[in-house]
Amino acid sequence: MYILGLEGTAHTLGVGILDEDGAVLANLLNTYSPEEGIHPREAANHHARKMLPALEEAMQTADIQPSDIGLVSFSQGPGLGPCLRTVATAARALSSSLDVPLVGVNHCIAHIEIGRLTTPCDDPVLLYASGGNTQVIAFTRGRYRVFGETLDIGIGNMLDKFGRENGMPFPAGPVIEKKAKDGDSLISLPYSVKGMDVSFSGILTAALKSDAELNDLCFSMQEVCFAMLTEVTERALAHTRKEEVLLGGGVARNERLRNMVETMAEERGAAAYAPPGPLCVDNGAMIGWTGYLMYRAGLTTPIEKSAVMQNYRTDDVDVIWR
Ligand code: ATP
Ligand code: FE2
Repeated sequence: MYILGLEGTAHTLGVGILDEDGAVLANLLNTYSPEEGIHPREAANHHARKMLPALEEAMQTADIQPSDIGLVSFSQGPGLGPCLRTVATAARALSSSLDVPLVGVNHCIAHIEIGRLTTPCDDPVLLYASGGNTQVIAFTRGRYRVFGETLDIGIGNMLDKFGRENGMPFPAGPVIEKKAKDGDSLISLPYSVKGMDVSFSGILTAALKSDAELNDLCFSMQEVCFAMLTEVTERALAHTRKEEVLLGGGVARNERLRNMVETMAEERGAAAYAPPGPLCVDNGAMIGWTGYLMYRAGLTTPIEKSAVMQNYRTDDVDVIWR
């Protein structure tokens, strides 16, 4: 059978198709990216409009028929309510019309499972850095536990807000990365690690107020924020005694962040991995694969339990498939 995975926690509508060996046959990403950032309702309308064409294109790419699909999985949370509900509605409709099981997946966990599928890592500490999420996660005592996270905004949202105020298109992360390469003077910004948690709002305020040169500001924001993330990831590695780091989320595509994490891992004798780009950002394949692991362990989601959970916590899930 083939597995269909639907992702829609934020601005990306993802449709993935896999086989039972974990081969990704299609992984369609359809991103709503307005200049001014995400409006949840408009992103949801985008997902609704694109759902049918995206499904058709994914099935064409995978060269399968709807009747070949044996499992429908969808991102049940966390995320933006209107986006989650739109994609969940499509998943329920598909599952009932095809008469196949439905599985609701925790989006953060899916970033780990796709890394375990597509990179050599087996039991990593995940540094998950995206627009809306910033968490350090690892598997202990039957669950994926959050060892550290942002106390305010996600790092990507912070970069996007800074970019918007400085006339950069959305998403600003890649633009900031480029500008940072031409900066070299380190502007003082509030390095904010509190216990195992991080905070970015003070850095944003300081950067917006600063009259330093833009390239230097981009450079300094990267240096400070990524050092914070690397520090917390290292402490999680030390605490859990794990020997692998996995990167996930859109910000994890940043070369400077990757270098810092790789250097830290190397110095500890650990290994660092990241899934290929389209599987590192939000995507349907990771939802499909995680849904399949859950299904194989006997977990399905009856329609009456398929309501979306905007604040679905990573450590709410009993990970019985490991
Ligand atoms: P989630 O719903 O998981 O929070 P998301 O909707 O933010 O995810 P992603 O594609 O995982 O989606 O991440 C998008 C974010 O990644 C944006 O904030 C964008 O600015 C940031 N980003 C993308 N590429 C880079 C880069 N090269 N450097 C820094 N940030 C980047
Ligand atoms: Fe994500």
